Amino acid sequence: MIHLTLARMSEALHGELHLAGGDTPDTIVSGAVDTDSRLIEAGGVFVAKPGETTDGHRFVGAAVERGAAVAIVEHVVDDAVSQIVVADVVAALADLARLVVADVRTRGSLRIVGITGSNGKTTTKNLLARILEGEGETVSPKASFNNEVGAPLTMLRVTDDTRFLVSEFGASAPGEIARLAGLVKPDIGVVLMVGMAHAGGFGGIEATFAAKSELVRALRPGGIAVLNADDSRVAAMAPIAAEQGCSVVWFGRGDAAEVRGDEVVVSASGTTCRVTVAGETLPLRLRVLGEHHVMNALAAIAAATALGVPLADCIERLETIDIAERWRMQPLGSDRVRIINDAYNASPDSMAAALRTLAQITGPDERMVAVLGAMSELGEFSGEEHDRVAELAVRLRIPRIVVVGADARRLFISAIGQGSWDDEAVFFASADEAYDYLLSELRDGDRVLVKSSNAAGLRFLGDRLGESFS
Ligand SMILES: Nc1ncnc2c1ncn2[C@@H]1O[C@H](COP(=O)(O)OP(=O)(O)OP(=O)(O)O)[C@@H](O)[C@H]1O
Ligand SMILES: [Mg+2]
Repeated sequence: MIHLTLARMSEALHGELHLAGGDTPDTIVSGAVDTDSRLIEAGGVFVAKPGETTDGHRFVGAAVERGAAVAIVEHVVDDAVSQIVVADVVAALADLARLVVADVRTRGSLRIVGITGSNGKTTTKNLLARILEGEGETVSPKASFNNEVGAPLTMLRVTDDTRFLVSEFGASAPGEIARLAGLVKPDIGVVLMVGMAHAGGFGGIEATFAAKSELVRALRPGGIAVLNADDSRVAAMAPIAAEQGCSVVWFGRGDAAEVRGDEVVVSASGTTCRVTVAGETLPLRLRVLGEHHVMNALAAIAAATALGVPLADCIERLETIDIAERWRMQPLGSDRVRIINDAYNASPDSMAAALRTLAQITGPDERMVAVLGAMSELGEFSGEEHDRVAELAVRLRIPRIVVVGADARRLFISAIGQGSWDDEAVFFASADEAYDYLLSELRDGDRVLVKSSNAAGLRFLGDRLGESFS
Protein backbone atom coordinates (compact mmCIF):
# COMPACT_ATOMS: atom_id res chain seq x y z
CA MET A 1 0.00 0.00 0.00
CA ILE A 2 1.25 3.48 -0.76
CA HIS A 3 0.97 6.78 1.05
CA LEU A 4 2.63 9.43 -1.11
CA THR A 5 1.97 12.82 -2.68
CA LEU A 6 1.33 12.85 -6.41
CA ALA A 7 4.46 14.96 -6.85
CA ARG A 8 6.71 12.46 -5.06
CA MET A 9 5.22 9.55 -6.94
CA SER A 10 5.64 11.24 -10.25
CA GLU A 11 9.23 12.21 -9.46
CA ALA A 12 10.14 8.67 -8.37
CA LEU A 13 8.64 7.24 -11.55
CA HIS A 14 10.39 9.80 -13.78
CA GLY A 15 6.91 10.62 -15.05
CA GLU A 16 4.93 13.60 -16.12
CA LEU A 17 2.04 14.52 -13.85
CA HIS A 18 -1.32 15.35 -15.43
CA LEU A 19 -3.65 16.69 -12.75
CA ALA A 20 -7.41 16.30 -12.80
CA GLY A 21 -10.43 16.83 -10.57
CA GLY A 22 -9.03 19.42 -8.17
CA ASP A 23 -5.87 17.44 -7.36
CA THR A 24 -2.64 19.33 -6.69
CA PRO A 25 0.93 18.01 -6.61
CA ASP A 26 0.54 17.83 -2.83
CA THR A 27 -2.55 15.61 -2.95
CA ILE A 28 -1.80 12.48 -1.00
CA VAL A 29 -2.61 9.11 -2.53
CA SER A 30 -3.16 6.43 0.05
CA GLY A 31 -4.25 3.06 -1.26
CA ALA A 32 -3.46 -0.22 -2.94
CA VAL A 33 -1.82 -0.64 -6.35
CA ASP A 34 -3.10 -2.98 -9.04
CA THR A 35 -2.89 -3.68 -12.76
CA ASP A 36 -6.35 -5.27 -12.73
CA SER A 37 -9.08 -2.63 -12.84
CA ARG A 38 -11.53 -5.10 -11.30
CA LEU A 39 -9.44 -5.23 -8.13
CA ILE A 40 -9.07 -1.47 -7.69
CA GLU A 41 -10.44 -0.09 -4.43
CA ALA A 42 -11.34 3.50 -3.52
CA GLY A 43 -8.20 5.64 -3.36
CA GLY A 44 -6.10 3.08 -5.21
CA VAL A 45 -3.50 3.36 -7.94
CA PHE A 46 -4.32 1.79 -11.30
CA VAL A 47 -1.38 0.73 -13.42
CA ALA A 48 -2.39 0.58 -17.11
CA LYS A 49 -0.22 -2.22 -18.38
CA PRO A 50 -0.12 -2.96 -22.10
CA GLY A 51 -0.65 -6.74 -22.23
CA GLU A 52 -0.46 -9.49 -24.82
CA THR A 53 -4.19 -9.81 -25.27
CA THR A 54 -5.49 -6.46 -24.14
CA ASP A 55 -4.24 -3.04 -23.12
CA GLY A 56 -4.73 -1.74 -19.58
CA HIS A 57 -5.23 1.75 -20.99
CA ARG A 58 -8.69 0.59 -22.08
CA PHE A 59 -9.64 0.03 -18.45
CA VAL A 60 -8.66 3.36 -16.91
CA GLY A 61 -12.35 4.36 -16.99
CA ALA A 62 -13.35 1.17 -15.19
CA ALA A 63 -10.67 1.78 -12.56
CA VAL A 64 -11.91 5.33 -12.04
CA GLU A 65 -15.45 4.03 -11.58
CA ARG A 66 -14.12 1.81 -8.81
CA GLY A 67 -12.51 4.81 -7.17
CA ALA A 68 -8.92 4.93 -8.46
CA ALA A 69 -7.18 8.10 -7.24
CA VAL A 70 -4.48 8.07 -9.91
CA ALA A 71 -3.51 6.06 -12.97
CA ILE A 72 -0.01 5.29 -14.17
CA VAL A 73 -0.13 5.31 -17.96
CA GLU A 74 2.03 5.48 -21.06
CA HIS A 75 -0.28 8.04 -22.65
CA VAL A 76 -3.04 10.22 -21.23
CA VAL A 77 -6.38 8.46 -21.52
CA ASP A 78 -9.09 10.09 -19.51
CA ASP A 79 -9.60 13.52 -18.03
CA ALA A 80 -11.52 12.22 -15.02
CA VAL A 81 -8.47 11.18 -13.02
CA SER A 82 -4.95 12.39 -12.37
CA GLN A 83 -2.39 10.46 -14.37
CA ILE A 84 1.34 9.97 -14.26
CA VAL A 85 2.62 9.46 -17.78
CA VAL A 86 5.73 7.29 -17.98
CA ALA A 87 7.74 5.74 -20.79
CA ASP A 88 7.26 2.19 -19.50
CA VAL A 89 4.66 1.26 -16.89
CA VAL A 90 6.40 -1.98 -15.91
CA ALA A 91 9.58 -0.05 -15.11
CA ALA A 92 7.46 2.52 -13.25
CA LEU A 93 5.89 -0.25 -11.19
CA ALA A 94 9.37 -1.36 -10.20
CA ASP A 95 10.38 2.20 -9.28
CA LEU A 96 7.27 2.58 -7.15
CA ALA A 97 7.94 -0.70 -5.35
CA ARG A 98 11.54 0.32 -4.64
CA LEU A 99 10.40 3.63 -3.18
CA VAL A 100 7.60 2.21 -1.05
CA VAL A 101 9.67 -0.62 0.41
CA ALA A 102 12.60 1.72 1.15
CA ASP A 103 10.23 4.14 2.91
CA VAL A 104 8.70 1.39 5.03
CA ARG A 105 12.14 0.04 5.88
CA THR A 106 13.36 3.38 7.22
CA ARG A 107 10.30 3.74 9.45
CA GLY A 108 9.47 0.20 10.52
CA SER A 109 11.00 -3.13 11.32
CA LEU A 110 10.38 -4.79 7.95
CA ARG A 111 12.54 -7.84 7.18
CA ILE A 112 12.65 -9.19 3.65
CA VAL A 113 13.20 -12.76 2.49
CA GLY A 114 13.70 -13.62 -1.18
CA ILE A 115 13.32 -17.18 -2.44
CA THR A 116 14.61 -18.60 -5.70
CA GLY A 117 15.46 -22.01 -7.17
CA SER A 118 14.41 -24.13 -10.08
CA ASN A 119 11.70 -25.95 -8.11
CA GLY A 120 9.83 -25.37 -4.89
CA LYS A 121 9.74 -21.57 -4.71
CA THR A 122 5.99 -21.24 -4.29
CA THR A 123 5.89 -24.16 -1.88
CA THR A 124 8.68 -22.74 0.28
CA LYS A 125 7.16 -19.28 0.12
CA ASN A 126 3.90 -20.70 1.48
CA LEU A 127 5.64 -22.71 4.20
CA LEU A 128 7.73 -19.75 5.32
CA ALA A 129 4.78 -17.34 5.20
CA ARG A 130 2.80 -19.70 7.43
CA ILE A 131 5.62 -19.67 9.99
CA LEU A 132 6.14 -15.90 9.87
CA GLU A 133 2.42 -15.08 10.04
CA GLY A 134 2.59 -16.43 13.58
CA GLU A 135 5.12 -13.68 14.42
CA GLY A 136 3.47 -10.68 12.80
CA GLU A 137 1.97 -9.25 9.62
CA THR A 138 3.49 -11.02 6.65
CA VAL A 139 3.11 -10.10 3.00
CA SER A 140 3.74 -12.83 0.43
CA PRO A 141 2.75 -13.26 -3.20
CA LYS A 142 -0.59 -14.65 -4.23
CA ALA A 143 -0.15 -17.92 -6.11
CA SER A 144 3.09 -17.77 -8.10
CA PHE A 145 3.38 -13.98 -8.49
CA ASN A 146 7.09 -13.91 -9.19
CA ASN A 147 7.72 -11.99 -12.39
CA GLU A 148 8.38 -8.38 -13.29
CA VAL A 149 4.76 -7.46 -12.62
CA GLY A 150 3.79 -9.87 -9.84
CA ALA A 151 6.89 -9.29 -7.73
CA PRO A 152 6.57 -5.47 -7.48
CA LEU A 153 2.79 -5.72 -6.98
CA THR A 154 3.46 -7.95 -3.99
CA MET A 155 6.13 -5.60 -2.64
CA LEU A 156 3.66 -2.74 -2.92
CA ARG A 157 1.37 -4.44 -0.40
CA VAL A 158 3.71 -3.72 2.53
CA THR A 159 2.70 -1.10 5.11
CA ASP A 160 4.31 0.27 8.25
CA ASP A 161 2.68 -2.62 10.13
CA THR A 162 4.27 -5.28 7.94
CA ARG A 163 7.01 -7.21 9.68
CA PHE A 164 7.94 -9.64 6.93
CA LEU A 165 7.90 -9.59 3.16
CA VAL A 166 8.45 -12.98 1.52
CA SER A 167 9.16 -12.67 -2.20
CA GLU A 168 9.43 -15.41 -4.77
CA PHE A 169 11.85 -14.69 -7.60
CA GLY A 170 11.54 -16.66 -10.80
CA ALA A 171 13.67 -15.96 -13.82
CA SER A 172 12.60 -16.10 -17.40
CA ALA A 173 15.81 -14.39 -18.52
CA PRO A 174 19.28 -13.61 -17.13
CA GLY A 175 19.25 -10.38 -15.14
CA GLU A 176 15.61 -10.65 -14.08
CA ILE A 177 16.29 -11.78 -10.51
CA ALA A 178 19.03 -9.17 -10.14
CA ARG A 179 16.57 -6.50 -11.18
CA LEU A 180 13.63 -7.67 -9.05
CA ALA A 181 15.57 -8.60 -5.91
CA GLY A 182 17.61 -5.41 -6.37
CA LEU A 183 14.42 -3.42 -5.80
CA VAL A 184 14.28 -4.48 -2.16
CA LYS A 185 17.76 -5.83 -1.36
CA PRO A 186 16.57 -8.74 0.80
CA ASP A 187 17.93 -9.45 4.28
CA ILE A 188 17.75 -13.17 3.57
CA GLY A 189 18.03 -14.99 0.26
CA VAL A 190 17.03 -18.64 -0.01
CA VAL A 191 18.36 -20.68 -2.93
CA LEU A 192 16.58 -24.04 -3.12
CA MET A 193 18.16 -25.83 -6.05
CA VAL A 194 19.66 -25.37 -9.47
CA GLY A 195 17.97 -27.76 -11.85
CA MET A 196 16.69 -28.02 -15.38
CA ALA A 197 13.41 -26.12 -14.91
CA HIS A 198 12.95 -23.40 -17.54
CA ALA A 199 16.47 -24.29 -18.77
CA GLY A 200 15.48 -23.89 -22.42
CA GLY A 201 15.24 -20.15 -22.02
CA PHE A 202 18.75 -19.97 -20.59
CA GLY A 203 20.81 -22.42 -22.53
CA GLY A 204 21.63 -24.85 -19.78
CA ILE A 205 22.39 -25.42 -16.18
CA GLU A 206 25.43 -23.15 -15.89
CA ALA A 207 23.35 -20.22 -17.07
CA THR A 208 20.66 -21.24 -14.56
CA PHE A 209 23.32 -21.21 -11.84
CA ALA A 210 24.27 -17.67 -12.83
CA ALA A 211 20.63 -16.54 -12.82
CA LYS A 212 19.84 -18.03 -9.40
CA SER A 213 23.02 -16.63 -7.89
CA GLU A 214 21.78 -13.15 -8.75
CA LEU A 215 19.65 -13.37 -5.61
CA VAL A 216 22.75 -13.83 -3.46
CA ARG A 217 24.41 -10.88 -5.19
CA ALA A 218 21.35 -8.74 -4.49
CA LEU A 219 21.43 -9.31 -0.69
CA ARG A 220 22.15 -6.35 1.53
CA PRO A 221 25.54 -6.34 3.29
CA GLY A 222 25.22 -8.22 6.55
CA GLY A 223 22.45 -10.35 5.08
CA ILE A 224 22.17 -14.11 5.14
CA ALA A 225 22.22 -16.56 2.24
CA VAL A 226 20.24 -19.70 3.07
CA LEU A 227 21.81 -22.33 0.83
CA ASN A 228 21.14 -25.97 0.01
CA ALA A 229 24.17 -27.89 1.25
CA ASP A 230 23.16 -30.98 -0.75
CA ASP A 231 23.15 -29.24 -4.14
CA SER A 232 26.71 -28.60 -5.29
CA ARG A 233 25.66 -25.77 -7.61
CA VAL A 234 23.84 -23.97 -4.81
CA ALA A 235 26.72 -24.63 -2.44
CA ALA A 236 29.03 -22.95 -4.96
CA MET A 237 27.23 -19.68 -4.21
CA ALA A 238 28.81 -19.41 -0.75
CA PRO A 239 31.82 -17.39 -2.01
CA ILE A 240 29.42 -14.95 -3.66
CA ALA A 241 27.70 -14.45 -0.30
CA ALA A 242 31.08 -13.80 1.30
CA GLU A 243 31.92 -11.20 -1.37
CA GLN A 244 28.68 -9.42 -0.48
CA GLY A 245 29.58 -9.35 3.20
CA CYS A 246 26.85 -11.90 3.92
CA SER A 247 26.92 -15.04 6.02
CA VAL A 248 25.60 -18.47 5.01
CA VAL A 249 23.15 -20.78 6.75
CA TRP A 250 23.23 -24.29 5.27
CA PHE A 251 20.17 -26.51 5.10
CA GLY A 252 20.02 -30.08 3.88
CA ARG A 253 19.90 -33.76 4.74
CA GLY A 254 23.61 -34.38 5.09
CA ASP A 255 25.95 -33.71 8.00
CA ALA A 256 27.22 -30.48 6.45
CA ALA A 257 23.89 -28.77 7.06
CA GLU A 258 23.27 -26.52 10.05
CA VAL A 259 19.54 -26.92 9.62
CA ARG A 260 19.36 -30.64 9.05
CA GLY A 261 16.61 -33.16 8.34
CA ASP A 262 17.09 -36.90 8.74
CA GLU A 263 15.19 -40.14 9.38
CA VAL A 264 12.80 -39.23 6.59
CA VAL A 265 9.77 -41.51 6.24
CA VAL A 266 7.38 -41.01 3.33
CA SER A 267 3.80 -42.22 3.30
CA ALA A 268 0.48 -41.46 1.63
CA SER A 269 -0.48 -39.25 4.54
CA GLY A 270 2.68 -37.13 4.44
CA THR A 271 6.31 -37.17 5.39
CA THR A 272 7.96 -37.34 8.78
CA CYS A 273 11.53 -36.50 9.69
CA ARG A 274 13.74 -35.19 12.46
CA VAL A 275 14.90 -31.60 12.28
CA THR A 276 18.03 -30.41 14.04
CA VAL A 277 18.93 -26.75 14.47
CA ALA A 278 21.67 -25.50 16.78
CA GLY A 279 21.80 -28.68 18.85
CA GLU A 280 18.03 -28.95 19.25
CA THR A 281 16.27 -31.88 17.57
CA LEU A 282 12.51 -32.16 17.09
CA PRO A 283 10.22 -34.39 15.03
CA LEU A 284 8.34 -32.86 12.08
CA ARG A 285 5.20 -34.41 10.62
CA LEU A 286 4.53 -32.73 7.27
CA ARG A 287 1.16 -33.41 5.74
CA VAL A 288 2.38 -32.10 2.39
CA LEU A 289 2.98 -35.14 0.15
CA GLY A 290 6.40 -36.09 -1.12
CA GLU A 291 9.91 -36.48 0.16
CA HIS A 292 11.13 -33.50 -1.88
CA HIS A 293 9.15 -31.16 0.32
CA VAL A 294 11.42 -31.97 3.26
CA MET A 295 14.07 -29.76 1.65
CA ASN A 296 11.54 -26.96 1.17
CA ALA A 297 10.52 -27.25 4.82
CA LEU A 298 14.16 -27.18 5.94
CA ALA A 299 14.75 -24.07 3.83
CA ALA A 300 11.74 -22.37 5.41
CA ILE A 301 12.94 -23.37 8.90
CA ALA A 302 16.44 -22.08 8.14
CA ALA A 303 15.10 -18.68 7.08
CA ALA A 304 12.65 -18.47 9.98
CA THR A 305 15.14 -19.46 12.66
CA ALA A 306 17.60 -16.94 11.19
CA LEU A 307 14.86 -14.36 11.80
CA GLY A 308 14.61 -15.48 15.41
CA VAL A 309 11.63 -17.85 15.34
CA PRO A 310 12.14 -20.77 17.73
CA LEU A 311 12.32 -24.20 16.06
CA ALA A 312 9.33 -25.53 18.02
CA ASP A 313 7.15 -22.70 16.69
CA CYS A 314 8.35 -23.34 13.14
CA ILE A 315 7.37 -26.97 13.42
CA GLU A 316 4.02 -26.36 15.05
CA ARG A 317 3.03 -23.98 12.27
CA LEU A 318 4.35 -26.16 9.43
CA GLU A 319 2.28 -29.04 10.75
CA THR A 320 -0.92 -27.03 10.18
CA ILE A 321 -0.36 -27.04 6.41
CA ASP A 322 -2.06 -29.79 4.44
CA ILE A 323 -1.23 -28.78 0.89
CA ALA A 324 1.65 -26.73 -0.51
CA GLU A 325 -0.61 -24.97 -3.02
CA ARG A 326 -3.40 -26.00 -5.35
CA TRP A 327 -2.18 -28.45 -8.06
CA ARG A 328 1.09 -29.18 -6.22
CA MET A 329 0.97 -32.80 -5.04
CA GLN A 330 -2.68 -32.14 -4.27
CA PRO A 331 -4.44 -35.25 -2.94
CA LEU A 332 -7.87 -35.75 -4.54
CA GLY A 333 -10.24 -38.67 -5.06
CA SER A 334 -10.76 -41.06 -2.15
CA ASP A 335 -8.94 -43.75 -0.22
CA ARG A 336 -10.13 -46.21 -2.87
CA VAL A 337 -8.81 -44.34 -5.89
CA ARG A 338 -6.28 -41.71 -4.90
CA ILE A 339 -5.50 -38.96 -7.39
CA ILE A 340 -2.41 -36.80 -6.87
CA ASN A 341 -2.73 -33.68 -8.97
CA ASP A 342 0.76 -32.24 -9.47
CA ALA A 343 0.11 -30.76 -12.88
CA TYR A 344 0.59 -27.09 -12.03
CA ASN A 345 3.94 -27.33 -13.71
CA ALA A 346 6.66 -29.82 -14.51
CA SER A 347 10.41 -29.84 -14.87
CA PRO A 348 12.70 -32.88 -15.04
CA ASP A 349 13.39 -32.63 -11.29
CA SER A 350 9.79 -32.19 -10.21
CA MET A 351 8.71 -34.96 -12.59
CA ALA A 352 11.24 -37.31 -11.02
CA ALA A 353 10.25 -36.26 -7.50
CA ALA A 354 6.58 -36.84 -8.25
CA LEU A 355 7.18 -40.28 -9.82
CA ARG A 356 9.35 -41.35 -6.89
CA THR A 357 6.68 -40.16 -4.48
CA LEU A 358 4.09 -42.21 -6.35
CA ALA A 359 6.29 -45.28 -5.97
CA GLN A 360 6.90 -44.56 -2.28
CA ILE A 361 3.29 -44.11 -1.29
CA THR A 362 1.81 -47.01 -3.25
CA GLY A 363 1.37 -50.14 -1.15
CA PRO A 364 2.15 -53.70 -2.33
CA ASP A 365 -1.51 -54.45 -3.10
CA GLU A 366 -2.11 -51.16 -4.82
CA ARG A 367 -1.43 -50.13 -8.43
CA MET A 368 0.56 -47.11 -9.64
CA VAL A 369 -0.83 -45.13 -12.55
CA ALA A 370 1.12 -42.20 -14.00
CA VAL A 371 -0.79 -39.79 -16.23
CA LEU A 372 1.91 -37.70 -17.84
CA GLY A 373 2.00 -34.75 -20.20
CA ALA A 374 4.82 -32.76 -21.73
CA MET A 375 7.39 -30.71 -19.84
CA SER A 376 7.73 -27.36 -21.57
CA GLU A 377 10.46 -24.70 -21.60
CA LEU A 378 13.29 -27.24 -22.05
CA GLY A 379 14.42 -26.09 -25.50
CA GLU A 380 17.13 -28.30 -26.96
CA PHE A 381 17.09 -30.55 -23.87
CA SER A 382 13.45 -31.50 -24.35
CA GLY A 383 13.89 -34.80 -26.18
CA GLU A 384 16.46 -36.38 -23.89
CA GLU A 385 14.67 -35.16 -20.74
CA HIS A 386 11.42 -36.80 -21.88
CA ASP A 387 13.38 -39.99 -22.56
CA ARG A 388 14.74 -39.82 -19.04
CA VAL A 389 11.26 -39.55 -17.53
CA ALA A 390 10.19 -42.62 -19.50
CA GLU A 391 13.26 -44.46 -18.25
CA LEU A 392 12.51 -43.58 -14.64
CA ALA A 393 8.84 -44.54 -14.94
CA VAL A 394 9.82 -47.92 -16.36
CA ARG A 395 12.57 -48.38 -13.76
CA LEU A 396 10.08 -47.64 -10.98
CA ARG A 397 7.93 -50.39 -12.56
CA ILE A 398 4.91 -48.18 -12.98
CA PRO A 399 2.48 -50.64 -14.57
CA ARG A 400 0.26 -48.08 -16.26
CA ILE A 401 1.76 -45.04 -17.97
CA VAL A 402 -0.83 -42.85 -19.65
CA VAL A 403 0.80 -40.27 -21.91
CA VAL A 404 -1.33 -37.32 -23.00
CA GLY A 405 -0.81 -34.80 -25.80
CA ALA A 406 1.23 -34.70 -29.00
CA ASP A 407 4.09 -32.82 -27.29
CA ALA A 408 4.56 -35.78 -24.95
CA ARG A 409 4.49 -38.47 -27.62
CA ARG A 410 8.24 -38.96 -27.33
CA LEU A 411 7.78 -39.97 -23.69
CA PHE A 412 5.34 -42.68 -24.82
CA ILE A 413 7.58 -43.97 -27.58
CA SER A 414 10.53 -43.95 -25.25
CA ALA A 415 8.61 -45.87 -22.58
CA ILE A 416 7.83 -48.57 -25.13
CA GLY A 417 11.48 -48.53 -26.21
CA GLN A 418 12.59 -48.91 -22.59
CA GLY A 419 10.63 -52.13 -22.34
CA SER A 420 7.19 -51.07 -21.25
CA TRP A 421 4.63 -53.46 -22.78
CA ASP A 422 2.11 -52.15 -25.25
CA ASP A 423 -0.76 -52.11 -22.82
CA GLU A 424 1.35 -50.73 -19.97
CA ALA A 425 2.04 -47.49 -21.78
CA VAL A 426 -0.84 -45.89 -23.65
CA PHE A 427 -1.08 -42.65 -25.58
CA PHE A 428 -3.95 -40.21 -26.05
CA ALA A 429 -3.87 -37.07 -28.14
CA SER A 430 -6.23 -35.19 -25.83
CA ALA A 431 -7.10 -34.93 -22.15
CA ASP A 432 -10.74 -35.79 -22.97
CA GLU A 433 -9.74 -39.10 -24.52
CA ALA A 434 -7.47 -39.86 -21.57
CA TYR A 435 -10.32 -39.04 -19.19
CA ASP A 436 -12.71 -41.46 -20.93
CA TYR A 437 -10.08 -44.17 -20.83
CA LEU A 438 -9.24 -43.60 -17.15
CA LEU A 439 -12.89 -43.54 -16.16
CA SER A 440 -13.26 -47.14 -17.30
CA GLU A 441 -9.73 -48.23 -16.43
CA LEU A 442 -9.23 -47.02 -12.86
CA ARG A 443 -10.25 -49.33 -10.04
CA ASP A 444 -10.03 -49.62 -6.27
CA GLY A 445 -6.47 -49.53 -4.99
CA ASP A 446 -5.19 -47.31 -7.80
CA ARG A 447 -2.79 -44.50 -6.92
CA VAL A 448 -2.81 -42.02 -9.78
CA LEU A 449 -0.28 -39.27 -10.39
CA VAL A 450 -1.27 -36.52 -12.85
CA LYS A 451 1.71 -34.45 -13.93
CA SER A 452 2.60 -32.10 -16.77
CA SER A 453 3.72 -28.58 -17.40
CA ASN A 454 1.22 -25.80 -17.05
CA ALA A 455 0.93 -25.43 -20.83
CA ALA A 456 -0.21 -29.05 -21.23
CA GLY A 457 -3.14 -28.30 -18.93
CA LEU A 458 -3.43 -31.72 -17.27
CA ARG A 459 -4.28 -30.06 -13.95
CA PHE A 460 -7.87 -29.85 -15.18
CA LEU A 461 -7.84 -33.54 -16.07
CA GLY A 462 -6.56 -34.14 -12.51
CA ASP A 463 -9.42 -32.09 -11.09
CA ARG A 464 -11.99 -33.99 -13.19
CA LEU A 465 -10.59 -37.35 -12.10
CA GLY A 466 -10.56 -36.14 -8.51
CA GLU A 467 -14.27 -35.34 -8.71
CA SER A 468 -15.19 -38.53 -10.54
CA PHE A 469 -13.46 -40.73 -7.97
CA SER A 470 -14.29 -38.82 -4.78
N1 LIG B 1 12.95 -29.80 -4.04
C1 LIG B 1 12.20 -30.20 -5.05
N2 LIG B 1 12.64 -31.12 -5.94
C2 LIG B 1 11.87 -31.54 -6.97
N3 LIG B 1 10.63 -31.09 -7.19
C3 LIG B 1 10.13 -30.18 -6.35
C4 LIG B 1 10.88 -29.68 -5.24
N4 LIG B 1 10.12 -28.79 -4.59
C5 LIG B 1 8.93 -28.73 -5.24
N5 LIG B 1 8.93 -29.56 -6.29
C6 LIG B 1 7.85 -29.77 -7.28
O1 LIG B 1 7.98 -28.76 -8.26
C7 LIG B 1 6.70 -28.38 -8.76
C8 LIG B 1 6.52 -26.89 -8.63
O2 LIG B 1 6.51 -26.54 -7.24
P1 LIG B 1 6.42 -25.00 -6.82
O3 LIG B 1 5.22 -24.43 -7.48
O4 LIG B 1 6.55 -24.92 -5.37
O5 LIG B 1 7.75 -24.49 -7.53
P2 LIG B 1 8.12 -23.08 -8.20
O6 LIG B 1 9.61 -23.05 -8.12
O7 LIG B 1 7.36 -22.00 -7.56
O8 LIG B 1 7.65 -23.26 -9.70
P3 LIG B 1 7.44 -22.09 -10.82
O9 LIG B 1 8.81 -21.85 -11.39
O10 LIG B 1 6.51 -22.79 -11.80
O11 LIG B 1 6.83 -20.91 -10.14
C9 LIG B 1 5.69 -29.19 -7.97
O12 LIG B 1 5.37 -30.28 -8.76
C10 LIG B 1 6.46 -29.60 -6.73
O13 LIG B 1 5.95 -30.79 -6.19
MG1 LIG C 1 6.13 -20.56 -8.36
